[in-house]
Amino acid sequence: MKDPLTRRGFIRNAAVSSATLTWLGAQHVPQAYAADAAKPVLLGGAPVHQGGWSTWPTWRESWEPAIIDVLRSGKWFRGDGGHVAEFEAAYAKLLEAKRCLATASGTTALLVSLHVMDVDAGDEVIVSPYTFIATYNAVLQNKALPVFADTDPATLTIDPASIESRITSRTRAILPVHIYGMPCHMDPINALARKHKLAVIEDACQAWLAEYQGRKCGTLGDLACFSFQNSKHIPAGEGGAVTGNSDELLDRCHAFHNVGRATGSFQGAQQFFTRGSNYRMQQFQAVLLLQQFEKLVQETARRRDNADWLGTHLKQIPGIQPARLPENSRAVWHLYPFRYDAEHFHGLTRDRFLQALNAEGIPCSGGYHEQYFDGLLDEAIRSRGFKRLFTAQRLKAYRESFQELKGNRQVCATTVALPQNLLLAGRHEMGHIVEAIHKIQAHSAALAKG
Ligand SMILES: Cc1ncc(COP(=O)(O)O)c(C=O)c1O
Repeated sequence: MKDPLTRRGFIRNAAVSSATLTWLGAQHVPQAYAADAAKPVLLGGAPVHQGGWSTWPTWRESWEPAIIDVLRSGKWFRGDGGHVAEFEAAYAKLLEAKRCLATASGTTALLVSLHVMDVDAGDEVIVSPYTFIATYNAVLQNKALPVFADTDPATLTIDPASIESRITSRTRAILPVHIYGMPCHMDPINALARKHKLAVIEDACQAWLAEYQGRKCGTLGDLACFSFQNSKHIPAGEGGAVTGNSDELLDRCHAFHNVGRATGSFQGAQQFFTRGSNYRMQQFQAVLLLQQFEKLVQETARRRDNADWLGTHLKQIPGIQPARLPENSRAVWHLYPFRYDAEHFHGLTRDRFLQALNAEGIPCSGGYHEQYFDGLLDEAIRSRGFKRLFTAQRLKAYRESFQELKGNRQVCATTVALPQNLLLAGRHEMGHIVEAIHKIQAHSAALAKG
């Protein structure tokens, strides 16, 4: 695609700053044009991007007959027909995983996986703190403690070097999260798990088709969990999946998600030989998902292409640092994050930067905050159940340990994240993102005062 950052377009919108000059090559900027440059919207100028962005989710009329067929068949339950099983086989094939179990949601996929990996009341699970709150909640539901390893500020994923010191005699599993579709550095995580005999459950709820060293996320631990909730790259309103390479584990998952009914190799002498719940996917969800594979593959390629282009241009802006991926890995960018350093923007706070960028027509947010201070963990550790299961000393040390998450604190305070639908636009629009940041930087001294 043609590079949209033409000199004229840029000069129209940005004033001259030293950062700008570095970016364009100072010798190419005529001073007369620069003096006329538009101001940021927050200082009375016009937005860089005026056209809006594509909405989400999107669908195709060609999907309608298959959905109507399910409706008219009355076979809406997975026990009645093949769409859910068909989806499971197709999704496993797409990821090159041996097996897949469809579930009602990503949260229920996590609950199934934690149960099957034998995370029990009074256990501890080492978790990425930088994640959607469902990851914490799934561990708490099992009456286990989510023990947070730190976040690596360069990658925004779990810092493998921070895991071992958090392992105790109660630790059963490690739960790394491929946040925003960026794969965690799985080799050291798996090595630690082997050394300490721990299970590894990938939270791949945002990582459909992401790759780590040539293998898809979803095939890198003992079990992995996906979400197909409405905002996701392959959405069905709600929906989820567990994937893995062990028939034995997947049979156990199937039984647990289906009220404990015997499945495959997992059989008992009596009908109710094992515990279970109802976490089944519906046929409507499956038929919607089955039709989106081609779209997912095409859109993933487009997001990657635009993210690569953005990364190349954004890292040239002083104070903007795109996330680093593990070697030989490919992200899928559920959000596109970068870290923002206010020092290069005359002290303009991250919140004010977000405000300014939104005002330029570039939707963005600050990503996750330090959710462990919000109260849910205090509520959990004050509960009768947790007090029975853990000593007061352990719960006190656990609560204090949140203060040690320096990397995560930094990430929460400095991240700027663009939603995935922006990456589905063209190069011209990607140019607007870069141009808007340059414009804010050029006027950051005035914006910081306002
Ligand atoms: C990282 C992560 N984990 C877990 C979940 C839970 O998935 P669901 O909303 O489908 O229950 C999500 C969904 O947003 C997620 O992003």
